[in-house]
Amino acid sequence: MILDVDTGIDDSLALLYLLASPEAQILGIAATAGNVGTAQVAANTLAMLDLGGAGEIEVAAGADGPLAIPLRTTEDTHGPQGLGYAELPVSARALSGRSAARMWAELARAHPGAIGLCTGPLTNLALALRLEPELPRLLGRLVIMGGAFQHPGNTTPTNEWNIHVDPEAAKEVFDAFSAAPPQRRPLVCALDITETIEMRPAHLARLAEAAGSAPVELPAAGQGAAWRSAASNPVLRYLVDAVRFYFDFHHGYDLGYLAHMHDPFAAAVALDPALVTTRPATVDVELAGTITRATTVADWAGMWGRQPNADIAVGTDPAVFFDRLITRVGAYARRLYPEPPA
Ligand code: RIB
Ligand code: CA
Repeated sequence: MILDVDTGIDDSLALLYLLASPEAQILGIAATAGNVGTAQVAANTLAMLDLGGAGEIEVAAGADGPLAIPLRTTEDTHGPQGLGYAELPVSARALSGRSAARMWAELARAHPGAIGLCTGPLTNLALALRLEPELPRLLGRLVIMGGAFQHPGNTTPTNEWNIHVDPEAAKEVFDAFSAAPPQRRPLVCALDITETIEMRPAHLARLAEAAGSAPVELPAAGQGAAWRSAASNPVLRYLVDAVRFYFDFHHGYDLGYLAHMHDPFAAAVALDPALVTTRPATVDVELAGTITRATTVADWAGMWGRQPNADIAVGTDPAVFFDRLITRVGAYARRLYPEPPA
């Protein structure tokens, strides 16, 4: 797999999910500016590889910002460093010597059929497509977390964060895949489906039990910014401190004391597309609209006379995903950090 992240809280859960999944072989990770700046995304990603006990995995820094507009980040959503209330030790791992775009292109050439997963803005995938126009035919599958179709946006009334940050890149990506054969169309996990993936405190409690971690903690609104997890398992300590920030953020917007787990869901779909039902559509991105810029538009019925360039996830069972997340990450955390004998 070739990952492209803007680590961020939910990106970090996607990384843990993939590290906990034996069928996932991570070839390289592109660090893309989005939730936080490129350097912080790279540092967060390296630190997550340490926490997750990963072997050597290439992490390549992407462009400093979007293709055509200034970078906008969202520390209010993901915390000052992008990992919520959690603070991880700075990793001693070195960044790759090549750019994220070059890494995408060279890994895809070296590993035809590889699975691509984008959980951040599409800046570096767009740059990679400029280097290697054959990418749509080299990748075996591409899963994109981004967009909103028959569903409100989360950044403006109609657009979703990853597209909002770099709409020009998103348009270049969807246009480039217009030539892809049907089985190589990007599988798009937009807010329509990812906002049904509502993590709640009880999911963290189940994760703690699966990991054999103690105490089992149930974060709640009003605990305040200073509270920190005392969980015995370092993965659980991280998850409680990171996800609690996300709970507080959603609670602050009256969405409930929950967190939409966009990216680990997209990661699970990248490993097992059978988790979702999809519908083909032609997707394009509005660039010129004054109030609709960065809106993703799906032509489901061929009104534009263009071939479909995406398969959009339209159905899933969130409980199946959470069972898989808890089983995999819980068991992995237990194996990585076994509790000392009583
Ligand atoms: O809109 C949700 C997406 O934007 C997620 O990938 C989140 O991490 C942010 O990147
Ligand atoms: Ca993300």
